[in-house]
Amino acid sequence: MIYPIVVYGHPVLRRKSVEVQQGQEGLQEFIRDLWETMHISDGIGLAGPQVGKSLRIFVIDTAGLADEDPSLKNFKSAFINPAIVERTGEREPFNEGCLSIPNIREDVVRESRIRIQYYDEDFNFHDESYDGVLSRIIQHEYDHLEGILFTDLIPPIRKRLLKGKLNAISRGKFDANYKTVLPKMKLEPEILK
Ligand code: CO
Repeated sequence: MIYPIVVYGHPVLRRKSVEVQQGQEGLQEFIRDLWETMHISDGIGLAGPQVGKSLRIFVIDTAGLADEDPSLKNFKSAFINPAIVERTGEREPFNEGCLSIPNIREDVVRESRIRIQYYDEDFNFHDESYDGVLSRIIQHEYDHLEGILFTDLIPPIRKRLLKGKLNAISRGKFDANYKTVLPKMKLEPEILK
């Protein structure tokens, strides 16, 4: 099933997500749906809240970035109940975008290196470190589980300049080549209990 993407202004994007239970009914189907939705939307990452589920899960597939960086060709992972346990390295700007905030990109400053603990879709535990683009994407997706959007992390002056555009997105004034859910619209029926 392909979910519509929830856009800026919807309260589900501001909620703190809850932990996924091992063996939770419908979980494997939901993960497949996340992949499918992300691929059809041309995204490189997608988190539960972006399809209206306040669950601590996100998926990342960087194959689409392989032209810029061949090392990203084969990175495809689901992160369940992740915890970023360390953020180290230089604080660096990087231009970010988000399927939930169409047509807006901004430089966001984040630490360059992270250590993250998480479970994959088979509930195997991982404890890994990332830097570069992967560290960046993981931190962005992780923030979705905490109700944080990249536009929260930009300087106040940039935020003020974006205010009108963000309000317009909430009202459906944007172009996207994927289906979306506006703040005033109802979410899809629950698959996960
Ligand atoms: Co995002």
